Amino acid sequence: MYSLSPRSRYLRFFTPIEKMSERMLDQMTQVDGHRHVAWLALTPDERTGVGVVRYVRAADDDQSAEVAIAVADDWQGGGLGGELLRQTVDHARLAGLDLLTATTLRENSAGAGLLQAAGFAAKRGSGMYRELEIRLKAPQRLNTG
Ligand SMILES: CC(C)(COP(=O)(O)OP(=O)(O)OC[C@H]1O[C@@H](n2cnc3c(N)ncnc32)[C@H](O)[C@@H]1OP(=O)(O)O)[C@@H](O)C(=O)NCCC(=O)NCCS
Repeated sequence: MYSLSPRSRYLRFFTPIEKMSERMLDQMTQVDGHRHVAWLALTPDERTGVGVVRYVRAADDDQSAEVAIAVADDWQGGGLGGELLRQTVDHARLAGLDLLTATTLRENSAGAGLLQAAGFAAKRGSGMYRELEIRLKAPQRLNTG
């Protein structure tokens, strides 16, 4: 895994995982460009991953997908997360998705700030998680004649 501190890992995975299980590794690497789309940001020498963003379509709704993102600690605060997320939203829109959703821990103000800066709105709710979403298609106007 690229350089994520225990705190960043906790914010991304909601648990301070030290090592990915085989099952998790399988899920994270089954990128098919449709159901599961991911981008990896590399250092200029292309040897090290420093950020990854992905969306995975919902099993019961092909028009909706969940987004998750992480940027290596040394690269945070420099605009990489924002750039990756903007590209993801653009890609999802072009791919015809209606809705992107994201879940952050409520204490994760950087995660929520990043998503809101990209156009996501927080849904109402309580508890330890914050749900955010962005609608990608304008609602159809009713033609009332
Ligand atoms: C959340 C995360 C991806 C942000 O990546 P980043 O590269 O640091 O973000 P950027 O520098 O591109 O910032 C983009 C915008 O996010 C918001 N943001 C970033 N850090 C913030 C903070 N600490 N507090 C509030 N808003 C913040 C701002 O709106 C910022 O825009 P600005 O720089 O014009 O103000 C990164 O902190 C991270 O990997 N955290 C751990 C994993 C995680 O929390 N993932 C999100 C849940 S899935």
